[in-house]
Amino acid sequence: MMPESPIQPLEPIQKVPRHIAIVMDGNGRWAASRGLPRLAGHRAGTENLRRVIRACVEFNVKVLTIYAFSTENWGRPSDEVEGLMMILEDVIDRELDELHAEGVRLRHIGRLDRLNPRLREKVLNAVELTKNNDQLVLCIAWNYGGRDEIICAIQNLIADGIKPEQISEELVSNYMFTVGIPDPDLIIRTSGEMRISNFLIWQSAYSEWYITPTLWPDFNREELYKALQAYSQRDRRFGKLTNGCEKD
Ligand code: IPE
Ligand code: IPE
Ligand code: MG
Repeated sequence: MMPESPIQPLEPIQKVPRHIAIVMDGNGRWAASRGLPRLAGHRAGTENLRRVIRACVEFNVKVLTIYAFSTENWGRPSDEVEGLMMILEDVIDRELDELHAEGVRLRHIGRLDRLNPRLREKVLNAVELTKNNDQLVLCIAWNYGGRDEIICAIQNLIADGIKPEQISEELVSNYMFTVGIPDPDLIIRTSGEMRISNFLIWQSAYSEWYITPTLWPDFNREELYKALQAYSQRDRRFGKLTNGCEKD
C-alpha cells in the first residue's frame, strides 16, 4: 500500500448517511491517461478502496456498498475479466486479516455461481469469518446486476409459494441480495457518468445521487468528505413536504 500523508482533521459532518453506495467508475480512463493498460487502473482503484474504507470508518458511515463487477462486465475482453477476478482473489488474500481486525463485516451481493470455485470459496469464507464484526459493513457487488437481482427475487418468491396478496415492499426487500441492509442514503458515481448502469435498482428508489468527474483511483478522503458535505445540504422529502411543513 502507498504511504499515506498525515490525516488532517476536518469539520464534523452534520448529517452522515448511514449507507453509501459507490459506482467505482473510471479506472480504464485513469490508466489510459497515463499510457498504462486498463488492469493497472483496476489495481490503482483497488488500492484506493482501502483509503475510502478507512475514511468511511472515520466519518462514521455504517454501510459501504461498492459496485465492483456488473453482470454486464462479462462482455469485456476475457483478459480484462480474468484480471478483475484475479484482483478480487488477491484483495481477499492480502487484505482479509486486516479488514477483520478493523471490525469490517464483508457481504457479497450478486451471484457467485459463475465464479471459479476457488474464488467462490474465498468470498464465502470472508463473509463467514467477518459475520460478527460491526464497525462497517462492506458490501461487495460482484457479478451483480439490479435486474438479475429482481429476477432472482421473483424466482425465490414463486419457489417459496408466496401468494399475490402477501407481496409487500418489505417482503420484496427481504428477497433481495441486500436483505437486512438499509437502502442506500447516498450513491456516488465517479468519472462523471450520469447513469445507474443496473445498480441497486430496487434499493435506490429514494437515494440521493452525487456525481463527480474525479476518476475512481483519485477519489480520496477529501473527495468523500465533499460528497458527505453535499449530502448534508440535501433536503430529502420522500415525496412529502420539507420538515415542519407536513400536513398533520
Ligand atoms: C470501473 O472502471 C471498474 C469496472 C467496471 C470493473 P471502468 O473499467 O469502467 O473504467 P472506464 O469507465 O473504462 O474508465
Ligand atoms: C458500472 O461501470 C459497473 C461498475 C463500476 C462495476 P461500467 O463502466 O461498467 O458502466 P457503463 O458501461 O459505463 O454504463
Ligand atoms: Mg466504466
